[in-house]
Amino acid sequence: MDRPPTVLPTALEVQVRARPLPRHVGIIMDGNGRWAELRGQPRLEGHREGSVSVREVTRAARRLGVQALTLYAFSSQNWARPPEEVAGLMDLLREYLESERAEILDNGIRLNAIGEVDKLPRYVREPLERLRADSAHNTGMVLTLALSYGGREELLRAARDLAQAAARGELDPAHLDADDLESRLWTAGLPPVDLIVRTSGEQRISNFLLWQLAYAELCFTDALWPDFRTEEFLRCLSQFQGRERRFGLTSAQVNRDDTPQRAKA
Ligand code: IPE
Ligand code: IPE
Ligand code: MG
Repeated sequence: MDRPPTVLPTALEVQVRARPLPRHVGIIMDGNGRWAELRGQPRLEGHREGSVSVREVTRAARRLGVQALTLYAFSSQNWARPPEEVAGLMDLLREYLESERAEILDNGIRLNAIGEVDKLPRYVREPLERLRADSAHNTGMVLTLALSYGGREELLRAARDLAQAAARGELDPAHLDADDLESRLWTAGLPPVDLIVRTSGEQRISNFLLWQLAYAELCFTDALWPDFRTEEFLRCLSQFQGRERRFGLTSAQVNRDDTPQRAKA
């Protein structure tokens, strides 16, 4: 009687659970403003409703066993939005970090952030760093928030780092390899990105994970982010599971038993 009601998984969830999942999913959470405008509400209401989707999708990813979920919450370019929208987003971020803290810790999730985090106001940076430190030993799923993030900015920083290491004589430019660069990206240590989702009908990348998406599958959906909930997420996972990833090989090659298959359904 005092037990919470058991929620039965939907048919789609049962189907998705039966096949290999992407290890790392990145989501471009777009369409909050349009969601609000369609309802005659201020854009910030869309961002607020979007944080409900963040909670639902994070729960679903954790429950299914996705290893890493990276959410594009604020781009380097988003700073140029009207100051009241930027301030509203920062307030919401702080609220999110406080309201989700217990759930993140209780569910073994490790909270991580990528981007120019030092540009965030102190009232966001503090709860972020606290949760990052307090969840550092969790092993369940890595939830990465891309905050003041840009793929070009990330690559530039890595290039600068490499050039400085070469100038110090610690690195031979002639033997520079992909690992040297990857280890200097903010995403170092995370599993390879298998799937990128973008909501709101836009079919562009908008400076998200530019290096990392080289062989990621892409899922574009018309749903606006505040409408993107568990079933929508499952639909993207199911699409992913129906794709054949060839990594430059032929279909016959990837279907041979002795060829390593990374995420073929
Ligand atoms: C995504 O929604 C959230 C952020 C970029 C911070 P938008 O605010 O871009 O919503 P639209 O694209 O204007 O509808
Ligand atoms: C991408 O959305 C950034 C985030 C979702 C945080 P934008 O709304 O900023 O992208 P554009 O302007 O449509 O390319
Ligand atoms: Mg947008």
